[in-house]
Amino acid sequence: MRYSVWILALLLFACGAPDEPDPPVAESPDEADRAVETGIDPHSYAEPNRIRVSHLVLDLDADFTARQLSGHAVLELEREDADVERLVLDTWDLEILDVTGASGDGEFELLSWRLADAHEYLGAPLVVALPEDVDRVRIDYSSSPDAFGLQWLEGAQTSSGQPFMFSQSQPHYARTWVPLQDTPAVRYTFEAAVRVPPELLAVMGADGNTFERNDTGEYHFEMNEPIPSYLMAIGIGDLEFAETGPRSGVYAEPELIESAAWEFAELEEMIDIGEDLYGPYQWGRYDLLVLPPSFPFGGMENPRLSYVTPTIIAGDRSLLTLVAHELAHSWSGNLVTNAAWRDLWLNEGFTVYFEARIMEELYGRDRRDMEAVLGVQGLKAALETADERDLQLVRDLSDRDPEQAFMRTPYVMGRLFLDFLEDRFGRETFDEFLRAYFDHFAWQSINSEDFRDYLEANLISPNPGVVSMEEVDEWLYEPGLPDTAVLPESDAFDSVDGYRQAWLEDDQSLSDLPAEDWSVHEWLHFLNGLEGDLDTDRMEALDDAFDLTESENYEIAFAWLMRAIETRYEPAMDRLEAFLLEVGRNKFTQPLYAGLADTDWGRDWGVEIYERARAGYHPLTRQAAERALGIED
Ligand code: BES
Ligand code: ZN
Repeated sequence: MRYSVWILALLLFACGAPDEPDPPVAESPDEADRAVETGIDPHSYAEPNRIRVSHLVLDLDADFTARQLSGHAVLELEREDADVERLVLDTWDLEILDVTGASGDGEFELLSWRLADAHEYLGAPLVVALPEDVDRVRIDYSSSPDAFGLQWLEGAQTSSGQPFMFSQSQPHYARTWVPLQDTPAVRYTFEAAVRVPPELLAVMGADGNTFERNDTGEYHFEMNEPIPSYLMAIGIGDLEFAETGPRSGVYAEPELIESAAWEFAELEEMIDIGEDLYGPYQWGRYDLLVLPPSFPFGGMENPRLSYVTPTIIAGDRSLLTLVAHELAHSWSGNLVTNAAWRDLWLNEGFTVYFEARIMEELYGRDRRDMEAVLGVQGLKAALETADERDLQLVRDLSDRDPEQAFMRTPYVMGRLFLDFLEDRFGRETFDEFLRAYFDHFAWQSINSEDFRDYLEANLISPNPGVVSMEEVDEWLYEPGLPDTAVLPESDAFDSVDGYRQAWLEDDQSLSDLPAEDWSVHEWLHFLNGLEGDLDTDRMEALDDAFDLTESENYEIAFAWLMRAIETRYEPAMDRLEAFLLEVGRNKFTQPLYAGLADTDWGRDWGVEIYERARAGYHPLTRQAAERALGIED
């Protein structure tokens, strides 16, 4: 045991260890209600009602050999309760070396602390005894090489041949790389110093990103707008920068920078559209960071620097909706934030609505309708198999992993709720309401009830007889899609349905399909609609006509590979294997592995591919793939 640890042990013995906090998980529905009323987040051990972190100073070294971030975090505190005697922080697999405290400009002195037992998916609360005058606490620590919130890639796993590291903090993985109050209910500003190998560039979702690396390998950042912890983000790699406008640009590894800059050339225009719709963009710059294909999501709305998967670089700007989505979060989510994960629809439902408005402005109503129909198809399929607790917008997640928050309901049902309000009140009135909403709640974390009250006071009551609060409550709290939903329709898709049907009924040959003119979305609708209707002959005919096995569009390739698994279409199996070895985006890998596991021929092969792909996958992708394949820990 290290000398300092002995001192700590002695000190703990002498002072008495601080009390362990109560588990945040509500044990009864009553407690869950209470947690909601008092704004307590069941997925954090922190006690922000008593004491709050208002500013964070990070100082970190990135060690690619040990796969660790190590250094210290200084938390500046504001007491809500003058009698508070402890500070409880969220941590997960952090190695805590030292905890010290200071008051004012004074020296840091050792504090008594203990790390309670780790909860399965919430990590371990770090409980620090807090002398009365201490208003800064410093924690010296290292992250674990297996931290869920970080992925360390070796040179062999990136296109540049250089190592890469990126964080993914949402929903509750910031605590795997920074000890903090890891709840969206707490917002704080931060500054950071980060040291990395000099051949790499460090970037953060913050101000201070340099467009080029420097020889010292040290970078400084600051975020002067208060953010919740799930928006903390760091990326380190062989990165280049290309400008897309006066306040926007893209970072990517050298091999991708040119195609990324072309693909995202409309970024600046999207920001302008966002501002025209819902008010000024409040974050200064807006850049994108293109991650390696192992990034487990499509995109992540880290403020000032959204993260995106390279699988949207299609060469034809056909998959930009995802960029509109992450940008829209700069208002819905980053400016007005869900206070807990039960309220996720406030982030994601608003953002899907907003994203559609941006896309409509850029590409017109047909495009918007097609995407809306695809979304609703996904929602309906998800509702059929969903747990009964997941059928309404406001969810009870108090005794569940916050990961469970992310399903179609908050995204698509949330969007349909806003579509419904727009339809009833008219676009002009609704836009005015939304602009005022973003303005009113800017820089705050709010729950569904805050929104409900604001809606009642500012839209429902001033316009009597248009929408009743019973209708609103049905959307928020009742399971299933309300009858008041206005479902999207797409003429373009109706036409695709007609062609598909005619081909399946042998009334029309493939050469008569107007497929040359089809957009990616029409293709996706065509392929999704073939589920259950194909055999290998039809697969071969489609492949001969349209070369789908070789499609360079990842969305089309994915939809095609799902059909290939269903029909055991052998000519696509090499592509399937290559796809799984290259891409770790969960939206693709999880259903592909699940599809293989569902067949009598593919499960073992799927496991075999997974074993080879595993080293390059993010911890979250591994977890989902292992569940899909039924691999036990
Ligand atoms: N905030 C999410 C990313 C996320 C999802 C983080 C789940 C943690 C858990 C992001 O804004 C998002 O929704 N991304 C979607 C794309 C979008 C176009 C629906 C994604 O990654 O698929
Ligand atoms: Zn989102």
